[in-house]
Amino acid sequence: MQLSLSSPFALATLRYSQAAILIILVLVCSFLLLLLFLQWHRPRDKRLPPGSMGWPYVGETLKLYTENPNSFFSIRQKRFGDIFKTHILGCPCVMISSPEAARTVLVTRAHLFKPTYPTSKEKMIGPEALFFHQGSYHSRLKKLVQASLLPSAIRGSVSQIEQIVLELLPTWKSNTINTLQEMKRYAFDVAMISAFGSKQDLEMEGIKHLYRCLEKGYNSMPLDFPGTPFHKAMKARKLLDEKLRKLIQKRRRSGRHEGGLLGILLGAKDHVKLNQLSESQIADNIIGVIFAAQDTTASVLTWILKYLHDNQDLLEAVTVNISHVNYLLTGPFIPSNFLLLPFIYHSTFCYL
Ligand code: HEM
Repeated sequence: MQLSLSSPFALATLRYSQAAILIILVLVCSFLLLLLFLQWHRPRDKRLPPGSMGWPYVGETLKLYTENPNSFFSIRQKRFGDIFKTHILGCPCVMISSPEAARTVLVTRAHLFKPTYPTSKEKMIGPEALFFHQGSYHSRLKKLVQASLLPSAIRGSVSQIEQIVLELLPTWKSNTINTLQEMKRYAFDVAMISAFGSKQDLEMEGIKHLYRCLEKGYNSMPLDFPGTPFHKAMKARKLLDEKLRKLIQKRRRSGRHEGGLLGILLGAKDHVKLNQLSESQIADNIIGVIFAAQDTTASVLTWILKYLHDNQDLLEAVTVNISHVNYLLTGPFIPSNFLLLPFIYHSTFCYL
């Protein structure tokens, strides 16, 4: 039997389904209201600093992404002080902006803290990067990263790094530059040398391009739909992974690891079973270390330039120090420890 829309039975079915949709909507709204209620009326934990946790689940993420991030943080800092709580990208967080608080978290009471990252960042960098691990895998990788930064490991790259500076300097002459952007350019090129070694393969331009695409979406809202910056970044991440794996296979086949962090990771064998690191472990850690090294270093360099510019006596003292370094670098050896270069040592390695 067929039912036409004009039959009373069909109309009744239509009304029932409309009623069902209405009931579902009411239930969803009540659930959301209940969540809101719980969020706002739960007892406040006295040990937490002041601040706002925003909306349930969403927290203050939308505000962060719709406002200028600098004003987002400075408004809260003015309102709540140097330590305040918030809720971003699905993580309850405490933001700190005083040197004393940073020292407490990173040095004096570091044992009380465990580094964790939002899942979207883990996806983008790669789950096998050391940042997302603890225990023996973490310390094994940490030692390898440290080994790639030893003076003996970077000795061969010094002239190439100098070359980067020599090429950059003329582009700053008689131009107004954005210091942070220029420092990012510089830090990126140095990071590429320190990750892949002095010998840059032909594939390197492709890797650099994909890395830049990935970087553009790194701080974007993690919405994985076609067209969003996050989606574009994840696509670039996938292609970057393929390119890195090809490079890893090529270097493994040739038996020439070619220095840099990649060379160290390729040559690493664990002490017990002599297992090598897998391709994905190497790729995730290379991407992770470039991330860790780039913007942090660029922003420290920017502050260094500012303070050197504002304090002429400091500038003179550093100039004398640099002449000393130049002598050591052009002389027969780089010192096997960096005691003579406390400034450089401190800014690069102290927290590792
Ligand atoms: C001066 C610039 C830098 C600053 C301010 C900085 C800051 C930080 C901070 C705050 C952490 C988290 C520490 C923790 O959770 O205990 C960290 C971790 C890390 N950074 Fe940097 N960083 C800088 C430069 C670099 C560079 C040049 C590298 C290149 C190798 C690097 C590689 C790492 C790695 C591998 C970790 C993870 C360490 C671990 O999980 O134990 N960073 N960095």
